Amino acid sequence: MLRTFLRWVFTLGLLCHFFSCQPKKKQVVGLISEQAMVVTAREEASKIGLDILKKGGNAFDAMMATEMALAVAFPFAGNLGGGGFMVYRLADGSTGCLDYREKAPMAAHRDMFLDEDGEVIPNLSTSGALASGVPGTVAGIFEAHRKFGTLSVASILEPVIALAEQGVVVTQKQAERLERNREAFIEVNGINTFFARVFEEKDTIRYPVLANTLRRLVAEGKDGFYRGETAQILVDHMQHIGGIITMEDLAGYEAVWRKPITFQYKELTITSMPPPSSGGITLAQIMGLIEPFEPGTLGHNTAPYIQLLTEAERRAYADRNYYLGDPDFTEIPTEAMLDKDYLTDRMADFTFEKATPSEAVSKGELLFAESEETTHYSIKDQFGNAIAVTTTLNGAYGSKIYIDELGFFMNNEMDDFSAKTGVPNMFGLTGAEANSIAPQKRMLSAMTPTLVEKNGKLWMIVGTPGGSTIITSVLQTILNVYEFGMGMQEAVNAPRFHHQWLPDWVTFEPSGFSPETLDQLREKSYFINENTTPIIGKVDAILVLEDGRLEGGADPRGDDTALGF
Ligand code: DON
Repeated sequence: MLRTFLRWVFTLGLLCHFFSCQPKKKQVVGLISEQAMVVTAREEASKIGLDILKKGGNAFDAMMATEMALAVAFPFAGNLGGGGFMVYRLADGSTGCLDYREKAPMAAHRDMFLDEDGEVIPNLSTSGALASGVPGTVAGIFEAHRKFGTLSVASILEPVIALAEQGVVVTQKQAERLERNREAFIEVNGINTFFARVFEEKDTIRYPVLANTLRRLVAEGKDGFYRGETAQILVDHMQHIGGIITMEDLAGYEAVWRKPITFQYKELTITSMPPPSSGGITLAQIMGLIEPFEPGTLGHNTAPYIQLLTEAERRAYADRNYYLGDPDFTEIPTEAMLDKDYLTDRMADFTFEKATPSEAVSKGELLFAESEETTHYSIKDQFGNAIAVTTTLNGAYGSKIYIDELGFFMNNEMDDFSAKTGVPNMFGLTGAEANSIAPQKRMLSAMTPTLVEKNGKLWMIVGTPGGSTIITSVLQTILNVYEFGMGMQEAVNAPRFHHQWLPDWVTFEPSGFSPETLDQLREKSYFINENTTPIIGKVDAILVLEDGRLEGGADPRGDDTALGF
């Protein structure tokens, strides 16, 4: 039955190809460079990262510069007050990853977001002082630099400090975002806060206070954030507004090297982030679930292709929400989750005839409207090293708490914990015991910085923001290139869709999918989310072409820019 269907779809695909029943689109090609490339959410950050490479620095030196430049040029998500993950592949082919995710403060406890009746108190985990985890970003960049960096911290951060002093020109998208959040900034921080001012497109914003905070990193290293003046100001501020982060929390924060998730998809070897991110395992599950069905034969973004990915995503997110959490607190059944027989079994009830309903359909309102608040950057250096880094404050400008004396926002990452089993967070994700709150525990993430090898050679560096949609955006980008022969930029531009088990609906980007395709899915009992048709993901990626040159994919959904040499 399945075979006949696949053969039919394949023949139809071939006929379409030969008789060109699809209009030929103009081919989109991203920036091409010879040796090195940096792709980030802002041109200023890409330029600072690339300049470090030009000075002879490697990808890890460029990471420190780029990450801090994003904190200056893209405060929406770039940060000192948040956390992230970095996956690397060295020129010799060895891989690894660094976890600098935020942690729950020592005074946090399991039921801290519940009222006396055990119900979740709205907004407590997303705004205000209790929403912030202990930041990990500064520890992350210093740990990566300690292990692999080659240039001095001073020479890496000097251009970032100059950027903060000289200022950053506001883009149209940035002006809109600042305006949209201005009232919230004032509400949280008072009328005298830095971002209470109205900034318009083409204005220049200077950050002298942040420049001073960065100077303390040059002078004191990691301690310039986690101990001493910066730490004291941060703790005093958070405690003053009802927070629980202490000097002890900061002094005790360490980034952790972890063993990445590495798996095969046909001839690709994919390396991605392990728990406390769900990214690697869930991506591996989805790719394992779809591989036997030959997704490439179904036609790009056709109804059967959307069905196959949706059904795999439904099953993988159900596992994610139940089994995954911080590996230092919870036993994660990684091997069992990725076992081939298990994955085959999981798809046993899949049919192209009809949707498999998710166990319980949640109609909860998803806050999808503005959901690109994380940021991803990809770097390939001239020495052959590659890094994929995703970093976040969680929501837009995190908790919106701006520490004016330090010049940065604090995260609201505590919302990534499961405040109560089965109650959805701001991304509509539910969780269970594995992701419950505990002191010093890391909250589960969906961030999926990923490196792909083809035939043993580096092939792609990829990642994106997008909360729960991160994993499915990375998935579609890899498949767009590998299964459908797109170039990097074309693959990044292609319209995306998303399903996450609960709520049981498929979300589509606006105007990327034909009404006929959606009708075909409806006929098979798929719920189409028509209330929110947001952009999904903002992918920044690099592809190594057959001749060894690099093609950048900088997402046009944002101000993202690829630069290279
Ligand atoms: O770690 C996570 O999965 C989330 N905190 C990421 C948030 C994000 O991508 C925001 N943009 N939608």
